[in-house]
Amino acid sequence: MAEIQLRSISKRFGDVEVIPGLDLTIPDGQVTVLLGPSGCGKSTLLRIIAGLETQSAGDVVLDGEVINDAPPAERGCALVFQNNALYPHKTVRQNLAFPLRMAKVDRAEQRRAVDEIAGTLELAPLLDRYPRQLSGGQRQRVAMGRAMIRRPKVFLYDEPLSNLDLELRVRLRLEIARLQRSLKSTAVYVTHDQTEAMTLADQIVVLRKGHIEQIGAPLQLYRSPANLYVAGFIGTPRMNLLPVQGHETTADGLVLRLAAGTLKLPPGLALPRAPATVGFRPEHARPAAASGQEVALTLRDCEVQAVEHLGDRAFCYLRSDLGEVVVLAPELGMGDAGTLQLAIEAKALHFFDAEGRAIAL
Ligand SMILES: Nc1ncnc2c1ncn2[C@@H]1O[C@H](COP(=O)(O)OP(=O)(O)O)[C@@H](O)[C@H]1O
Ligand SMILES: [Mg+2]
Repeated sequence: MAEIQLRSISKRFGDVEVIPGLDLTIPDGQVTVLLGPSGCGKSTLLRIIAGLETQSAGDVVLDGEVINDAPPAERGCALVFQNNALYPHKTVRQNLAFPLRMAKVDRAEQRRAVDEIAGTLELAPLLDRYPRQLSGGQRQRVAMGRAMIRRPKVFLYDEPLSNLDLELRVRLRLEIARLQRSLKSTAVYVTHDQTEAMTLADQIVVLRKGHIEQIGAPLQLYRSPANLYVAGFIGTPRMNLLPVQGHETTADGLVLRLAAGTLKLPPGLALPRAPATVGFRPEHARPAAASGQEVALTLRDCEVQAVEHLGDRAFCYLRSDLGEVVVLAPELGMGDAGTLQLAIEAKALHFFDAEGRAIAL
């Protein structure tokens, strides 16, 4: 059992407040991903949990016990970084056994533990090699094994895959997911990569400038972003966001006035607050003629800027009178003068108020 609570954690470096006061519960046995752009304080938070950095205020609580004063070695956390230096003059076996040797574990037990970890991480054929004889991915697996060997209560990963090429990143990402599922240990995984977050997380914490913007399961964040920031951050290509200049209630329903066009919403749909932005995901826009749907957005003067072919689907980047829009587009059906009627179901629309907060329908 290892549940971590961060209570009113703040951190300043000199005059700069990097984390202004953050509360977070990291549940036992799950993978919590801290997701945010570079510089938002992810590594700082992880280091505070590990005890490698001291918070300016607030408490780190492990299973109900405040551990602010516990040194790193007593916290039961294992850290896996982007660049885990292995000992170049030690074999894989010796690298894996090193933490146990330091802890004066007897030799037979060291051997047993190394063989077990090597089995889990498929390192058995590599045990007699030296780090220079390993690929980047193999080295990273050894580093993970070295972190795992003392059976930590908590795994802390700080962008462990950032330095690897794409293919390896995808493979190791799945491997970490599988490993965490079988170990069922508490893990905190830091990344700026939303795909990594979506693949690995039970819970994603979206961070921005040391603030939590939203916490939720991956699909929950995708389907119901709490604000404009999360809406724009999760999803590739990102959600289309169009400014709303005003709205009128007509006999046919609500009409939103956009910069250069209108968006008609079906009757019966009411917004409790005035929308300042309307958003829709690329996959939710269809050519209106084809769909026969009611909610329609007319884009004029459309110019195709780029088409991103992904094999099974293609995304079309359009410049229009409403600005740049990206749609999942098998059949655009562009009309004369580059006019395009897009239909988006009302339930696929996202509305945000002037403060950027999502408006629930
Ligand atoms: N030891 C330090 N001294 C001063 N500023 C720091 C130190 N460590 C981190 N920072 C600053 O704190 C902010 C958050 O850093 P970090 O936690 O590394 O972000 P992330 O891991 O999300 O990229 C950054 O602006 C960074 O420059
Ligand atoms: Mg970092």
